[in-house]
Amino acid sequence: MEERKPVILEETDSTNRWLKEAAVKGAPDGTVVIARRQTSGRGRFDRSFSSPEGGLYYSQLKRNFPGGDDLVKITQLVAVAVRRAIIESTGAEPQIKWINDLYLQGKKICGILCESVSIGPENHIIVGIGINVNTRPEDLPGELQDKAGSLAQICGRGLDTDAVAAALTRQLDKLLADPKALENEYSKEYRKYCYNFPEDMIIKQEE
Ligand code: BTN
Repeated sequence: MEERKPVILEETDSTNRWLKEAAVKGAPDGTVVIARRQTSGRGRFDRSFSSPEGGLYYSQLKRNFPGGDDLVKITQLVAVAVRRAIIESTGAEPQIKWINDLYLQGKKICGILCESVSIGPENHIIVGIGINVNTRPEDLPGELQDKAGSLAQICGRGLDTDAVAAALTRQLDKLLADPKALENEYSKEYRKYCYNFPEDMIIKQEE
């Protein structure tokens, strides 16, 4: 897919929710929305995802996605694509924490929320990614200040959020164009960099 312009929002409640609404109104396949901050960012199990300025809050719509009901598998493949995008754009090499988080030096720097959206007979997915790029620790809620970090903190320099976003789009486009063809390679990479891969999943995946 050729490079296209993302929709940039100064603020929204949640880019995943915004894109779901846009999908219902007919937003095209591959639409990307980026917010500079979110007032109601969400994670798995409807947990809140703190989204102050400095972070990258990114969602992409993939229409009629095959295998869109296996969100566990999609999340794993996306985690590998996001890890690659972070390496490409910042040089930092995060580890994966089962199932949808990326960590650096013991701190969470990224969370992923893949959701399926049915519109009539069609099934689409929304891939949502939140990365603490230049997030200042003091802008995170007190209870997260020990647990979460930012790429800038760890790299020791301010980073270009738009360059991270462009790398995400490149990596996701590559993966989502033909996930079946890449599944084997990406699953191996997930296992390699996931430091808490659950034993029962190893048995299940090898069956
Ligand atoms: C998690 O930590 O469980 C996943 C967090 C996912 C956050 C991203 S930020 C962009 C998109 N919009 C949301 O509301 N959530 C995802």
